[in-house]
Amino acid sequence: MGAHICIIGTGYVGLVTGACFAEVGHRVICVDNDLNKVAFLQRGGIPIYEPGLDEIVHRNVTEGRLRFSGQIADGVRESEVIFIAVPTPPRPDGSVDMSYVEKVAREIATSITEYKIIVDKSTVPVKTGERVAETIRRYNKDKIEVDVVSSPEFLREGCAVQDLMQPDRIVIGVASQRPVAKMKEIYEPFHAPIIVTDINSAEMIKHACNSFLALKISYANALSAICEASGANVEDVVHGMGLDKRIGRAFLNAGLGYGGSCFPKDISAFIQIAHELGCEFDLLKEVQRINAEQIQRFLKKVHDTLWIVKDKTISILGLAFKPNTDDMRLAPSLEIIHSLQQEGARIKAYDPKAMDKAKELLTGVEFCPDPYTTSVGADALILCTEWDEFRQLDLEKLRSVMAQPIVLDGRNLFDPAKMKELGFAYKSVGR
Ligand code: UGA
Repeated sequence: MGAHICIIGTGYVGLVTGACFAEVGHRVICVDNDLNKVAFLQRGGIPIYEPGLDEIVHRNVTEGRLRFSGQIADGVRESEVIFIAVPTPPRPDGSVDMSYVEKVAREIATSITEYKIIVDKSTVPVKTGERVAETIRRYNKDKIEVDVVSSPEFLREGCAVQDLMQPDRIVIGVASQRPVAKMKEIYEPFHAPIIVTDINSAEMIKHACNSFLALKISYANALSAICEASGANVEDVVHGMGLDKRIGRAFLNAGLGYGGSCFPKDISAFIQIAHELGCEFDLLKEVQRINAEQIQRFLKKVHDTLWIVKDKTISILGLAFKPNTDDMRLAPSLEIIHSLQQEGARIKAYDPKAMDKAKELLTGVEFCPDPYTTSVGADALILCTEWDEFRQLDLEKLRSVMAQPIVLDGRNLFDPAKMKELGFAYKSVGR
C-alpha cells in the first residue's frame, strides 16, 4: 500500500521528490508555508518548469496519492516519515543559512505525538543531522522518540524526474538501525543500490559529489584555455579522456562555467565547512577561481572580436543557467549581459523557457519571441545556453537577418567547420 510520507518544502527537490514517491505508490502530502504556492498547486498549477513533472503531479493528485497543504501539523500527523526539503541559501560569507531547516525542525517537534522518522533531504552542512535531532529533542515537550536520517538528493534540474525515478544510488545516513527497514521500503521501488552509512558520512557524500563534479567542469575549462593557446581542440581532448573508464566523459564540457542554485553555493559552503573543521580545501578555491575566470575569458573574446562594444546590437540566445529549465539563478548569461550593457551594448535576448524569470532580473533588454527576431540587425550573436532548439536553427536564415555574421558560442554547440562554410566569423571555447 506504500508508506505515508510528508515532504516539507515544495521547491525543486521537495516537489519532484513528493511527486515521484507518489508515482511509485506511496501516499504523499507536500507542505509549504507559502500559501499562495499551495493554492496554486491545489488548483493544478506547477510553479517550476521541469520536463515530465506536470504529468506525474496531475496523475497522482487525480489518483489520490498526492496532496498539498499549508500546515506542517497536518502533514506530520498523517505521516510515518517526514522529509525536510526546505531551502538552505548561501549567506554573504559563503556559509549556509540553516534557519529554515531549524525552524521546520522546531515545528515538527511541536507537532509530533508519536514515533516518526525525520529525513533531511536539503543540501546541508555535515553535522546537520545531529543538530536537527538535538532541536527536536529540545522542543518536543513529551520526549517522543524520533529517528533523524540523512538522505541527500542528487537530482539535476532539467532532468529531475528521470534522476529521481532512475537514481544511480540512494544514500541513507542513520544513527541506529531502527529506521533502516522503513527507509528501504520507501526507496525499494526505485531499484537502485542503497548505501547505509552514519549521518555525517551521508552528508559528506553530497558535499563530495557536487564539489567533484564542479572540479571536473573547472578542469575542462582550464584545459580549454590551454587548448586555445596551443591550437589543440578541447572537444577532442575530453573525448579522448572520457573513454578512459576511470575518468568518464560526463561533466567535462568546457563552456561558460557552472552556475545555478547548487554548485556555486555548495562549493563555497564546503570550503567554509572544511575551514571551520580546521582543514583548508584550497583545491576547491582554485575550482571557483577557474569558474569565475572562464566568463572573463569569454568576455575578452567578445571584445577582441568586436573591438568596441558600445552601441553594438548583441543577440543573446539562451538565458537559463542550463538547458531544460527556466531557472535563472547565477546563470552565466546574467554576468555577460550586465557587463555588455555597462559598456553600452544594446541587448536582444531569447530563451525557450526562462524569459519570464529573466524579465524580473534584467532591465533594458529587448526580449524577442524567437531566435531569428532576436538576431535581426545584430552585430554579433552570443550563445549562452545549449538548448536543443538551437541545434535545429536554420543558420543561413540566421545569417541573413544579422547585420554582421559573427557568432560567439559559449557552449560549443555548433560545428566550427560548418559555421565557417556558412560564412560566419565563429568563435567557441577551447577549439
Ligand atoms: C547539480 C548536481 O548535478 C546534482 O547531482 C545535485 O543534486 C544538484 O546540483 C544539487 O545539489 O541540488 P544542477 O545544479 O541542477 O545539479 O545542474 P547540473 O546539470 O549539475 O549543472 C550545473 C552547472 O554545471 C550548469 O551551469 C551547467 O551548465 C554546468 N556544466 C555541467 C558545465 O559547465 N559543464 C558540464 O560538463 C556539465
